[in-house]
Amino acid sequence: MKTKIINTPDMLKAASRRKEATVFVPASFDKKDELQAIIKDEKYYIHTYGCQANVRDEETMRGMLEDVGFTQTDKPEDASVIIINTCAVRENAEDKVYGEIGNLKILRKKNKKLILAICGCMVEQPEILKRLMDTFKEVNLYFGTHEIPELYSLIYQAKTSEQIVVAIESKPGEVVEIKPARRSNEYKAFVNVIYGCDKFCTYCIVPYTRGKERSRHYNDVLKECEELVKQGYQEITLLGQNVNAYGKDLDEGKDFADLLEAVAKLGIPRLRFTTSHPWDFSSKMIDIIAKYPNIMKFIHLPVQSGNDRVLKAMGRRYTREQYLALVKEMREKIPGLSLSTDIIVGFPNETDEEFKDTLSLVDIVKYEAAFTFIYSPRKGTPAAKIADNVSKETKSARFMELVKHLEKHIEEHSASLVGKTFDVLVDGVSKNDKDMYSGYTEENKLVHFKGCEQMIGKIVKVKIIESHTYSMIGEIVNG
Ligand code: 5AD
Ligand code: SF4
Repeated sequence: MKTKIINTPDMLKAASRRKEATVFVPASFDKKDELQAIIKDEKYYIHTYGCQANVRDEETMRGMLEDVGFTQTDKPEDASVIIINTCAVRENAEDKVYGEIGNLKILRKKNKKLILAICGCMVEQPEILKRLMDTFKEVNLYFGTHEIPELYSLIYQAKTSEQIVVAIESKPGEVVEIKPARRSNEYKAFVNVIYGCDKFCTYCIVPYTRGKERSRHYNDVLKECEELVKQGYQEITLLGQNVNAYGKDLDEGKDFADLLEAVAKLGIPRLRFTTSHPWDFSSKMIDIIAKYPNIMKFIHLPVQSGNDRVLKAMGRRYTREQYLALVKEMREKIPGLSLSTDIIVGFPNETDEEFKDTLSLVDIVKYEAAFTFIYSPRKGTPAAKIADNVSKETKSARFMELVKHLEKHIEEHSASLVGKTFDVLVDGVSKNDKDMYSGYTEENKLVHFKGCEQMIGKIVKVKIIESHTYSMIGEIVNG
């Protein structure tokens, strides 16, 4: 099979940054009618790995596919287009993708007309793309995170030619206002406010795969949120790799605190945001969060390490002391605040003493939730070039010890909630127990309780009667 290369990735280009990002609405694909005519009763299957940015990208792709006549299926064998939306942040996420493509390639052998597409962050790395193309001859479409607006044209090209289509351009990226989006939830919505990342933490691949920090126009974000409020949405999460950088690349005189306040004023019952880099978390933001009851008192504030040498080697731009001062200000100004974090153990050459600094920081902050990771070298990032003297066994042992510390605090916090009543936004039937319903408190605690279908998408009062580390059991108050 021949290969049609439209673009391939380049890590140096991916790292290049220019000042402004252009905002554009993509011209409509001129063969859309023809594409629509080809697609008769066809189905698509899509599987997304990784962060909320990928989840939101999936919604955009679903909207586009359904706009030209595809319907969704959860059975890959029924689909004529299969899209695997990948994550590159750690090696184990990538391994799962290799496994899944290995299973799906049989379908393509049976059905030569099937489009098997791989997109997302993995294909943005030249070596991974090469490995995928060498290993899986059955994949016939590759496109990057910047090519989603071209989806109609890419599907058309893959459908009407016998070629493998590769379209991955490493570029700083634009802000593309695409209309069709099939949201995955009818009462909780993600709204992008800023794309990409310019922080270049030395271990992280994201700035290379998702391009530069570029904010959506203030009015575009507000318009989208306004529509969601009108449609009856109960919760909006403002999204970005680092939402606090919002507006810094624009000339609109608005920062993230302004945006957060304006969205809160629209009257959405629950407003969340993620992720926040501690470096540009302003006091103004803390004040806005404290002021508006509909801004949830939950902040995800990745610390990564509690040791200054490691933080510096990671390129995190803050010290342990500065991070702790920020936490202190947050806890003082925002009563009932829940804090969660990301922590990496086993960064190259991390010593036992340095790791203990992470444990002691965890014991000071007493996070209410946390995500923990063993460092995973990402080719092309500065940290991947550092010779590492920490053994796998030491990294695993540190990971276990860290989890023990975190869980102790999380368990204590969970136990302190028993007997109290919380507002819970009901998601639906519990994943593990069909007789129970579940939802999240304002502080992002998962609660299971006996409920009914009418409660789905509504905010109900639940009294906590039992606590576990990561979830709670409760009962509905007042029927
Ligand atoms: N290895 C391990 N964890 C990583 N993260 C990002 N890059 C790596 C890596 N190379 C973690 C960070 C980040 C979260 C989304 O993933 O903790 O905050
Ligand atoms: Fe990666 Fe750091 Fe940007 Fe987060 S802030 S996406 S960890 S480079």
